[in-house]
Amino acid sequence: MSKLPTLLYIDEDSGIRQAMHRDLKEVFDLRTASTIDDAQSILQQEWVQVMLVGQYHSDIGGGEFLEQVQQKWPEVIRMIVIDQIPSGETIDTDDHEGIYQYISRPWRRDDLILTLRNATRLFELQRKNEALSIGLKMVSGNSDESLTDKRSKLHKRHHCDDGMVRTANSCMNEVCEKLRQVAPYDVSVLLSGESGTGKELAARSLHQNSLRWNKPFVVENCGALPDELLESELFDYIRGAFTGATEDRVGLLERASGGTVFLDEIGEVSPAFQVKLLRVLQEGEIRPLGSGRTRKVDVRIIAATNRDLDGEVSGGRFREDLYYRLATVTVSLPPLRERRIDIPVLANSLLESAMQSLDKRVTGFTDEAVACMQAFHWPGNVRELQNEVRHMLVMGRRSIGSRIADVTRAPRAASG
Ligand SMILES: Nc1ncnc2c1ncn2[C@@H]1O[C@H](COP(=O)(O)OP(=O)(O)OP(=O)(O)O)[C@@H](O)[C@H]1O
Ligand SMILES: [Mg+2]
Repeated sequence: MSKLPTLLYIDEDSGIRQAMHRDLKEVFDLRTASTIDDAQSILQQEWVQVMLVGQYHSDIGGGEFLEQVQQKWPEVIRMIVIDQIPSGETIDTDDHEGIYQYISRPWRRDDLILTLRNATRLFELQRKNEALSIGLKMVSGNSDESLTDKRSKLHKRHHCDDGMVRTANSCMNEVCEKLRQVAPYDVSVLLSGESGTGKELAARSLHQNSLRWNKPFVVENCGALPDELLESELFDYIRGAFTGATEDRVGLLERASGGTVFLDEIGEVSPAFQVKLLRVLQEGEIRPLGSGRTRKVDVRIIAATNRDLDGEVSGGRFREDLYYRLATVTVSLPPLRERRIDIPVLANSLLESAMQSLDKRVTGFTDEAVACMQAFHWPGNVRELQNEVRHMLVMGRRSIGSRIADVTRAPRAASG
């Protein structure tokens, strides 16, 4: 039987360490430590895949230690076990860059195991990706970067969090796991979900965790442009192809060569354009407008829609053959109201980013604000929450939350 994955849990509370041990002993090879010194010597001796740190244990909660681990053992997936966040406090994510996930206590055994399995899978995937990418680059041999540079870039890339803030019990975990599974394979992915649910974020994470990560990621918003403009943006054209084509131009598909093209709002494209797109996807080549010759393109297509594209196919408004080309795998992003459990963590994380980008600090949200945010139905999903948090930050004083209370009392909240 193969060896169980090795996990390290650091907590000064022996009761919690024992509880963790009891819950995980059959599934993982769990090592525990009560101090940073003990943890370091375990990291030096063992091949640790995932490390969990109890956040509020003064001795060991420091960001310094986490940073040190990131530098010395960059392959280790790092997680933080948090107590219920005391009201009015935020998680200080300043010190916790690159943390894979937060687990809140008390945990549910099944959820904990699922999360940790995902983390160990990510560890494996990173190692495979790294080996493969390094192998490919060595074969191609046309780069003057040293192997160390390549390695450090790979580490940086693959160790970045997928950016999807969520809790240990979130239904987003399943979604992120699916994204992680499909990312390395060169197949098309169709992302669906309401506006603001994180489709573009998901597309970027697919790209970053693919072997195309160091090639372009190009976004085209198909809903925003009429056919002719969309065509001239995506495809190459040669001088004189149409009025206004004063010089040859390389289109997005070719500029993304080797990388990923994200076709946003794919459900909006006209039947005529669907035919053109289908031809490109089927043949893997484009014919520049105004030219008789074709050129090969090597891109991975990720598309997104907030429509029910399946329904559009049944209703004859979207080509079935194109649908199947775009949707080798489909991933549906849940609306925020179906994962209210994530709202406090998400709001705190959005607040932290807003404080940084707007250079204004507050102590956190009021209890009332957190309660209101969790109760609200967020028709605009994470994007709306993000706007609301920024608004509160700009308008608020030490702790913030009055406007959100107003929002939930407004008529639009009544339907939520
Ligand atoms: N789970 C998440 N964690 C952190 N930030 C998130 C999460 N989901 C979405 N966001 C943020 O919310 C904003 C909206 O996300 P994104 O643009 O990916 O949504 P979308 O589904 O593409 O929206 P639209 O349909 O309106 O284009 C972005 O700023 C994104 O970074
Ligand atoms: Mg989008």
